[in-house]
Amino acid sequence: MFYIMLLVVGFVGYFLWSRSASKNNLQTIAPYISEESTYPLTARQITIIKQSWQAVLPIKSQAAELFYARLFELDPTTKALFKGKLDYQGDKLMTTLNVVVNAVDNVDDIVPMLEAMGKRHIIYGVEHRHYETVGVAFLWVLEQGLGDQFTDEVKEAWTLVYNLIANYMKEA
Ligand code: HEM
Repeated sequence: MFYIMLLVVGFVGYFLWSRSASKNNLQTIAPYISEESTYPLTARQITIIKQSWQAVLPIKSQAAELFYARLFELDPTTKALFKGKLDYQGDKLMTTLNVVVNAVDNVDDIVPMLEAMGKRHIIYGVEHRHYETVGVAFLWVLEQGLGDQFTDEVKEAWTLVYNLIANYMKEA
């Protein structure tokens, strides 16, 4: 009898453990799973991106300036890659991000644009490792611009979008 009970307890224990293990696993990858057809971002993340971008747009020139200052601080070697005037460059960067944000609920539309941009970036001398530094600088600028509105949720949504853009550019 004792052995039968031990067996039952063992089975129940294993069942509960496996359920919680798979739940934890789902929680870890949850940000990459969308309940809507807007894969890889959830509808909520898309709303967050669009709303927070509206808060950055009015200060886009300062944001671009802050971005380059932060980038060159994080990796001074990137400065040599930029040949054009930075204010013009910053404007282009923000315009591109605006296009990306507008298309964030239908990323497929902008994949050819991102791939072409990725190819041009190889000609500019950009290496894969630079994308991480640029991502860090960009998120830092968002944090400066959004202040209290830069919550973990906002950070997570923007990290996903940045990685999405960077991956398409790098793959090209
Ligand atoms: C999400 C990632 C990025 C976006 C959206 C982006 C956007 C842009 C845009 C719109 C331009 C204008 C020219 C063009 O369209 O080809 C540009 C140029 C450039 N970008 Fe990026 N970029 C990204 C990542 C990077 C990275 C990782 C680096 C490396 C530090 C970089 C360095 C440059 C350079 C050197 C130029 C050319 C500047 C010049 O010589 O005038 N970009 N970028």
